Amino acid sequence: MTTQVLTADEVRALVPMGEAIDAVRDAFVSLVEGEFEQPTRTALRDGGFLVMPVHHRPTATAMVKTLSVNFDRSPAITGTVMWSDAARADHVIADAVSVTALRTGAISGVATDLLAPAGASRLALIGAGAQAADQARAVHAVRPLTHLVIVDRDGNRAEELAEVLRAELVGVRVSVSSDAAQAVGGADIVSCATSSKTPLFPLAALPQRVHVNAIGAFRPTMRELPDALMGEATVVVDELDAVLEESGEVVHALDAGTIAKEDLIELGRALTDPPRPTERTVFKTVGVAVQDYAIARLLAAKALTARV
Ligand SMILES: NC(=O)c1ccc[n+]([C@@H]2O[C@H](COP(=O)([O-])OP(=O)(O)OC[C@H]3O[C@@H](n4cnc5c(N)ncnc54)[C@H](O)[C@@H]3O)[C@@H](O)[C@H]2O)c1
Repeated sequence: MTTQVLTADEVRALVPMGEAIDAVRDAFVSLVEGEFEQPTRTALRDGGFLVMPVHHRPTATAMVKTLSVNFDRSPAITGTVMWSDAARADHVIADAVSVTALRTGAISGVATDLLAPAGASRLALIGAGAQAADQARAVHAVRPLTHLVIVDRDGNRAEELAEVLRAELVGVRVSVSSDAAQAVGGADIVSCATSSKTPLFPLAALPQRVHVNAIGAFRPTMRELPDALMGEATVVVDELDAVLEESGEVVHALDAGTIAKEDLIELGRALTDPPRPTERTVFKTVGVAVQDYAIARLLAAKALTARV
């Protein structure tokens, strides 16, 4: 019986982005194969506190993440991830800021690998907050970038992130823009990671062939993408029940009649039976517990040297 506590730095040292992407991909395939028991997360105080449990049936292991969300502080999202092994009574408690950023990047990496054009190399990243760096790292892991343009309504944040990523993503030309429409116009891949309540750019600003990741909106009152894009694109989502309840993009486009529920393809299904994508593709994620489980399982395997 062991309980191990891992700080953010330890999480980062144990799980590189490439491994996180592979782990999250495997977990979504297992999800559609019925291996996970995963209720829709509980949102208290209109998303101010989130509780996310998941149980992996074949191994009798489980994970619970608890988060508190407050956009008036930085980081906006904090909490803990707890992984448990029922047979061995082993537990890992890890910092949720790092796990969340890592797994949210990783799922965008999985979707980008599946949906983005083969030679895509120019990324427009909108949002320069806590999730942003891992969004860029994950896209770069699956589609090596030549150009990265960062947009944030807070120009200082965009400049700070550009400095970090310039040092890290050697050979990538990193710039900052204050014009989201112009930035997406020159991109092969667009990643949106903001807390916006209104679309970040109009459909007409996008190139004809583009893949768009949207991770920011997790309440029906928030959205980053225009309805017209949702209506036109091949739309892959993390989990149907979750986006129907929480994604402003999905709820708004359904209400406007630009999409039907049947148009939405779950990531696990898309991985096992890849869709023939339209020229524009969208990946919408609100974040589900199985992503955190995937990272927690890796952490447990490494930190406890247990068989999981
Ligand atoms: N899908 C998921 O699994 C998942 C996981 C974590 C966070 N999130 C969500 O993603 C969003 C970003 O998270 P974060 O932790 O980086 O938040 P954050 O508060 O650290 O950063 C958000 C950034 O978006 C910028 N922004 C907001 N509106 C904008 C706009 N209209 N145009 C340009 N920039 C704008 C802000 O200036 C800020 O820099 C939040 O809404 C968060 O709840 C989703």
